[in-house]
Amino acid sequence: MFPATRMRRIRTTPRMRDLVAETKIDPSKLIMPVFVDENLKNVAPINSMPGIYTYPLESVGKYLENLESKGISNILLFGVPAHKDPMGTSSYDPNGAVQKTIKLAKENTSLTVMTDLCLCEYTDHGHCGIVEKSIINNDLTLEVYDKIAISYAESGSDVIAPSGMMDGQVGSIRRALDQAGFDHTSILAYSAKYSSNLFGPFREAVKSSPGFGDRKTYQMDWRNSREAMREIELDIKEGADMIMVKPAIFYLDIIAQARRRYDLPLAAYSVSGEYSMIKKAILEGYMNENIILESLTSVFRAGADMIITYFAEWFMENVEQ
Ligand code: PBG
Ligand code: ZN
Repeated sequence: MFPATRMRRIRTTPRMRDLVAETKIDPSKLIMPVFVDENLKNVAPINSMPGIYTYPLESVGKYLENLESKGISNILLFGVPAHKDPMGTSSYDPNGAVQKTIKLAKENTSLTVMTDLCLCEYTDHGHCGIVEKSIINNDLTLEVYDKIAISYAESGSDVIAPSGMMDGQVGSIRRALDQAGFDHTSILAYSAKYSSNLFGPFREAVKSSPGFGDRKTYQMDWRNSREAMREIELDIKEGADMIMVKPAIFYLDIIAQARRRYDLPLAAYSVSGEYSMIKKAILEGYMNENIILESLTSVFRAGADMIITYFAEWFMENVEQ
């Protein structure tokens, strides 16, 4: 008899296909990024990210309640301050946009609140660290990161996610949090973060493009994968509770490798450029919305446990649970 094995037998009906499906997107694994901008009075669309908005403090609370009512469980917060300076001092202002939003979220919702910890939104030069003679000073930057971590923890953030790619940032923040009595605040480490062209739309949203040079002296070179394993290894040794690969869909090999090698919860960040490419193609009619599910599924199939995605809200609105 030929062919002896017929693979099509398990693809006959939608129910049969659901039965044998190896991957399912679980809403509790989705993390929605949220932008709050101190300079705004009204909700503002992000040009390069159709369907995504930046919120003023006045209405971000309502938006978070709205997200929760749609079934979203987790958010990742980003802030844009009114005041930027060389040292990024607004970043640890106890009354800063992020700090206030954390409090709003904790008071009015039961969302898991994650906060991105970096300086690029707060420095006038747009780099992720303190600049000295045109060079990003690693260890001076860590001192500021420690202050930010404590201020986020004091405001009630559940998870702190350092994204600046400074050496020792996880260990430094862990120590600072523990010394300040925040030993229950967890760290999601942006461990393998590549210097990617896919961050462009995000930088429009938070006005964080570097004023000179680029981020290649601290973010990873996209030609490397073994180096990503070293980055992850270091973060684990420094006390990371969860690790991350970023971006996601061009980096599925890195996600798969990290999954095989490490047992920590593994996050993938499907970044702004991934969103924009897919969204624009759908709006132009070049592809249909199922491309969103295909891309999200690919990241879980590669081995990620959770995804930070701008499609999280879309998913809750459009996919039946
Ligand atoms: C801050 C930060 C960036 C992103 C997350 N945190 C931008 C960057 O490193 O330039 C990118 C997120 C996205 O593109 O969606 N360091
Ligand atoms: Zn940064």
